[in-house]
Amino acid sequence: MRNLPSILGGDKVREKPFPRRITMGAEEKKAVQDVMESDVLSAFFGSPGELFLGGPKIKEFENNWARDFGFKYAISVNSWTSGLIIALGSVGIEPGDEVICSSYTMSASASCCFFYGAIPVFADINPRNYCIDPESFEKLITPRTKAIIVVHLFGGVADMDAILDIAKKHNIKVIEDAAQAPGVKYKGRPVGCLGDIGGYSLNYHKHIHTGEGGMLATNDPEIAKIARAIRNHGENTIETESPENFVNYVGGNFRLTELQAAIGIEQLKKLNKYVVTRQSLAFRFTEGLNKIKGLNADQNDLENNAYYLYPFKYDRKVIGLSRNLFVKAVLAELPDPIDFEDTALAGGYLKPLYLNPIYQRQIAIGKKGFPFNLNKGVKYDYSKGISPVAERLYERELVLSPLIREPLEFSDIDDILTAINKVVNSAGQIREAFPEVNDDIVDYV
Ligand SMILES: Cc1ncc(COP(=O)(O)O)c(C=O)c1O
Repeated sequence: MRNLPSILGGDKVREKPFPRRITMGAEEKKAVQDVMESDVLSAFFGSPGELFLGGPKIKEFENNWARDFGFKYAISVNSWTSGLIIALGSVGIEPGDEVICSSYTMSASASCCFFYGAIPVFADINPRNYCIDPESFEKLITPRTKAIIVVHLFGGVADMDAILDIAKKHNIKVIEDAAQAPGVKYKGRPVGCLGDIGGYSLNYHKHIHTGEGGMLATNDPEIAKIARAIRNHGENTIETESPENFVNYVGGNFRLTELQAAIGIEQLKKLNKYVVTRQSLAFRFTEGLNKIKGLNADQNDLENNAYYLYPFKYDRKVIGLSRNLFVKAVLAELPDPIDFEDTALAGGYLKPLYLNPIYQRQIAIGKKGFPFNLNKGVKYDYSKGISPVAERLYERELVLSPLIREPLEFSDIDDILTAINKVVNSAGQIREAFPEVNDDIVDYV
């Protein structure tokens, strides 16, 4: 039964569960305990004064982050979704402005626009790095285009030189969504801070985390000032600042707590180690995959990648199985995952964003078409086919592994590769048993 694929009743390649990720060590527990002893769980105060910028742990966390990454202003927030909303506000986005977004990313990378009545316009991606294709970006520019949100997807890096050049030529602000790429460098400079403003997510699933949270990054003192105002009820500070230089003064409560900042200080110390582990596991994965005809991981830039997820391309014509059946058969060879973090392979990532009802039906806010109806006579195109690369990857060609993290070892990656090889070698048998499974479209968790 060893050679019979497990999806057809044979033995699995591996029964033993993959090791779980343990994120909170003695250091984080002690740091939380210290804040508990102080009894000050958050020191933020929403009006002018010393505590407008938060308490001691917030300040220490932000200073350490800016120092380690090598940029000027790190501004903590209670999620990276909040960070994206703040980023748009701090570069002066207004109702009716168009913002170029990636088609292939998590929803918040585009829905942040709606908080300012701005309209996301979707660019296709470069299939090599899964990030916005500069050519597609340039074609979508109109006199109403005010910003681009560049996502460094899966931990890789976008074509930043080309994007920054185009943006400069057209006076477009550049916001970087580096939620999945903390600690990655582009030509020696930290991703997240190459444009006007950017930042990182600190939710539980990310390389390092504070439960929920995020960090904004900028080198521009004016942008930093507005971002800090929006984070903390900026409308209350309008008397003490110089309102004539300010836009988007309305703020929210987007503040991180002292408890989370204390955890973040300890997590930050571990980031580099985690990224290096992921890179070496990815190297092993790539070596094994590239020996298999029909699978291709060549596009991965091993040295400039934080590998939030490990992506590779799948060619159904060569392998002879639909992508989804391939993924299902490989998963059958491995221990049942407890959650997403333990899942060896997943197909497709997220549906290109414009295919979701919010864009298809243009119903972002209210029922009258706001903000898509703000520019008289302008129609926005969200039809299937506008981003062929993203659609193709989602439907047929992309496979991802979330199992590219500590404390996995090479032997764990080798087991995944053995499972993949077993399925590839038994593709004919599997196809015969599942003639009806030709669908490739899947919703990835
Ligand atoms: C690319 C990207 N952008 C934005 C977000 C939103 O971040 P958060 O969950 O911290 O709000 C995520 C989170 O998964 C993400 O992956």
